[in-house]
Amino acid sequence: MSVFDVRNLRKSFGGLAVADDVSLVLNKGDRTALIGPNGAGKTTLVNLVTGLDRPDAGSVFLDGHDITTASPSSRVKHGLVRSFQVTRLFSEMTPEEHVALGILQRMGKAGRMFADYRRMPEVVAETADILGLLNLTHLALVPVSAIAYGQQRLLEIALAMALRPKVLLLDEPAAGVPSSDIALIENALAQLPPDLAVLMIEHDMDFVFRFARRVIVLAAGTIIFDGTPSEVSKDARVREAYLGSYGDDRSIA
Ligand SMILES: Nc1ncnc2c1ncn2[C@@H]1O[C@H](COP(=O)(O)OP(=O)(O)O)[C@@H](O)[C@H]1O
Ligand SMILES: [Mg+2]
Repeated sequence: MSVFDVRNLRKSFGGLAVADDVSLVLNKGDRTALIGPNGAGKTTLVNLVTGLDRPDAGSVFLDGHDITTASPSSRVKHGLVRSFQVTRLFSEMTPEEHVALGILQRMGKAGRMFADYRRMPEVVAETADILGLLNLTHLALVPVSAIAYGQQRLLEIALAMALRPKVLLLDEPAAGVPSSDIALIENALAQLPPDLAVLMIEHDMDFVFRFARRVIVLAAGTIIFDGTPSEVSKDARVREAYLGSYGDDRSIA
């Protein structure tokens, strides 16, 4: 069943079409990778559908509701959650506070109740569960500014999990994460609810092939492939797109 429906999205920056009539549908339970050369428009697409950038044309539907002009925060409330390619965490706050705040936000109790989360046993328990899943328990009370970048990326996933989205958009979750910690990200993704729709932007093709049941390729603002992982590396247009931008085919298996 379709939970996320992007129709004919267009966006240009100074005459350069970065989203050129992009349409895509995510169904419940999708595990889809969005790949494409640098500058293809992947992050812009996530910005457009989450309300950070405004499309020139097109529409976005979440669970059948037109959210094309909804504010970023109301999209989150309705279940559309993203992570950023570069983390946007609060440096003075701890992982525990981040996750607890996410849970309270989901419950509609953020702000007013935040100072009291330690007295809410169900919030404390869920926070501990999520931090444990990402192997962040030992850092629960350490300010973000004092924890390694790779672990900040894990915290971003923890935060997304706390919001219990219907659609989760991950922009390069493994970027900057030591290869020894990528398994933690994969484990966390494996724990996500089966009916959640996940779209993950990722360059590490081994990770893509382990995660995705479907791969979408974006090049110069256009979707040039939408199919199975086993087909993608054989596709002539995909190979050409990567060859054109990198001069070799290192980045696509
Ligand atoms: N706010 C912006 N203003 C102008 N150009 C932008 C802006 N955001 C992105 N771009 C341009 O859009 C293109 C696509 O960028 P991006 O979506 O970040 O690509 P990707 O994530 O696929 O690497 C690039 O040429 C980039 O320079
Ligand atoms: Mg990007």
